Amino acid sequence: MAQCRPADGSPEPCLPAVTRQGYRDAMARLGAAVNIVTTDGPAGRHGFTASAVCSVTDSPPTLLVCLNKGSSAAGAVHANGVVCVNTLAAGHEDLSNLFGGRTPVEERFAAARWCRSATGAPMLADAVVAFDCRIVRTVEVGTHDVLFCEVVGLAEGGAQEGLIYFSRRYHAVTGTS
Ligand SMILES: Cc1cc2nc3c(=O)[nH]c(=O)nc-3n(C[C@H](O)[C@H](O)[C@H](O)COP(=O)(O)O)c2cc1C
Repeated sequence: MAQCRPADGSPEPCLPAVTRQGYRDAMARLGAAVNIVTTDGPAGRHGFTASAVCSVTDSPPTLLVCLNKGSSAAGAVHANGVVCVNTLAAGHEDLSNLFGGRTPVEERFAAARWCRSATGAPMLADAVVAFDCRIVRTVEVGTHDVLFCEVVGLAEGGAQEGLIYFSRRYHAVTGTS
């Protein structure tokens, strides 16, 4: 493990400067749940895989999603103003990869069963949990937009095993003891 200061007490910092690749490699060590974020509305149906999802507050229930501004889903997400965050289960690895880029949008949705949430965004029938949301604020940071999403509906599924992305690979996690 790197030290914050050299052992000889000299004032020079001993941590290397943060490079883009160094940051990406470090983030690969931060495990996270895998989600498919969907949208539908006047700008049409779209969806993308996202691990950059976390809770902001429970009052009002709000989560955030980080969306690459270059993603093919970005235009539809912003124009529709609604998303459904579908948290994936073990066994959804292929679906995650389909929504992870470069696959035509209709091919992505054809690979699973969806129902329509109250906001109109597609809800994955066998998600571990699904958060139906309205986007209430967007903050631009570098390459990404941070979407603040107020949760207006919830659906919990029956899957016993969740899906985590850690060290650039998928891992099943069990919730049963
Ligand atoms: C495991 C995994 C996690 C991802 N997490 C994010 C994320 O949090 N935010 C994001 O914008 N893209 C994320 N991506 C990439 C997007 O899913 C992908 O860029 C998106 O589908 C856009 O591709 P497209 O422009 O070909 O549609 C992730 C991909 C994978 C496979």
